[in-house]
Amino acid sequence: MKDFKQVYLDNNATTALAPEVIDEMLPFFREHYGNPSSTYSFGSRVRDMLEKARALVAASINALPEEIIFTSCGTESDNTAIYSALEAYPGRRHIITTVVEHPAVLNFCRQMETRGYSVTYLKVDAHGKLDMESFADALGNDTAIVSIMYANNETGIVFPIEDIGRLIDSRNCPGGRILFHTDAVQAVGKVAVDVKKLNVDMLSLSGHKLHAPKGVGALYVRKGTPFYPYLIGGHQENGRRSGTENAASIAGLGKACELAGASLNEEAAYLRQLRDKLETAVISSCPGAIVNGRGTERLPNTSSISFEYIDGEAILMFLDSNGIYAASGSACSSGSGKPSHVLEAMSIPSSAIHGSIRFSLSRYNDASDIERLINVLPDVIKKLREISPLSGSFKCAH
Ligand SMILES: Cc1ncc(COP(=O)(O)O)c(C=O)c1O
Repeated sequence: MKDFKQVYLDNNATTALAPEVIDEMLPFFREHYGNPSSTYSFGSRVRDMLEKARALVAASINALPEEIIFTSCGTESDNTAIYSALEAYPGRRHIITTVVEHPAVLNFCRQMETRGYSVTYLKVDAHGKLDMESFADALGNDTAIVSIMYANNETGIVFPIEDIGRLIDSRNCPGGRILFHTDAVQAVGKVAVDVKKLNVDMLSLSGHKLHAPKGVGALYVRKGTPFYPYLIGGHQENGRRSGTENAASIAGLGKACELAGASLNEEAAYLRQLRDKLETAVISSCPGAIVNGRGTERLPNTSSISFEYIDGEAILMFLDSNGIYAASGSACSSGSGKPSHVLEAMSIPSSAIHGSIRFSLSRYNDASDIERLINVLPDVIKKLREISPLSGSFKCAH
């Protein structure tokens, strides 16, 4: 076993728990294990914590506490939002989303197609930008919901959610406003998210992307928005999401949101300079490396880089053997063997998609991690190019 510090550069897949988050959670495993629905004080203590956490999550996106529903993950929040909108408008049969959404939205929409709904999948251009004209054209009186992600998990590209909200607002739809949901799973905790400014009806977030545990998330539902629960059973979450609450994780989510909010701008600036350092170093040390979506507004922590004519999985394997962890495309779709649907949508050639690596940083990375990467990566790329049957084309093309 080689002796080196592990370098974790896959924070869009999941993040390390913040020590403060662990401290916040532990009492709810050890001592305060009562059921928050119990009426005696042993339960109501946990209920009080849930409300404190709800207020912290709400504050982090400028929402009201009663607008937050705790869920089990980002996927559940996404599924619930779309399901609820379709229930709210039984007469409407149209959904608008984008081709670059996370499978939590994409596959839910595909499932709805099998049930007779029509879905518009908006395209993006080579820079990852949405075609706003097609979006405006797609909005119709039959549209129940628009679900568009805040920021992409693979490229970090940020969509103009505020503009989209404004456009939806300008449509006077008989029977009620077209509902607007944004999957902000990758954005919350990394950039300032203000639901009032964005003019969204629903917003998803997930704990494990912001140093809280896996298995907890939240759905913001704007006050007054019609809501239909996805999980039906007991009365938890005011009847909006049944199931005994994941108390310790909710305590952790509240703390993680508080921590993120306390240093959001400083942390974003820190991550941006670290990410830029990484990109500059990779481009100068690995000939032909291309940063996807570089000129477009992106999350400060994310970098998708293509190394043409080599296999991304092979790059990851070599990095792994050096204790460096990154992703090829989305963690959720890696293993499927399919090229990234996000990079395909940006018309990136397949020779580059197959050699694409996503590096995603967190507050726990520092310059020494970038140095470690740069000590290893250029040799890996060089070695793989030498054995690649296609590297000749690379040499010609560059
Ligand atoms: C943009 C986006 N949406 C939704 C999800 C799903 O979140 P969870 O893993 O909490 O279900 C992810 C996870 O990678 C994501 O990146």
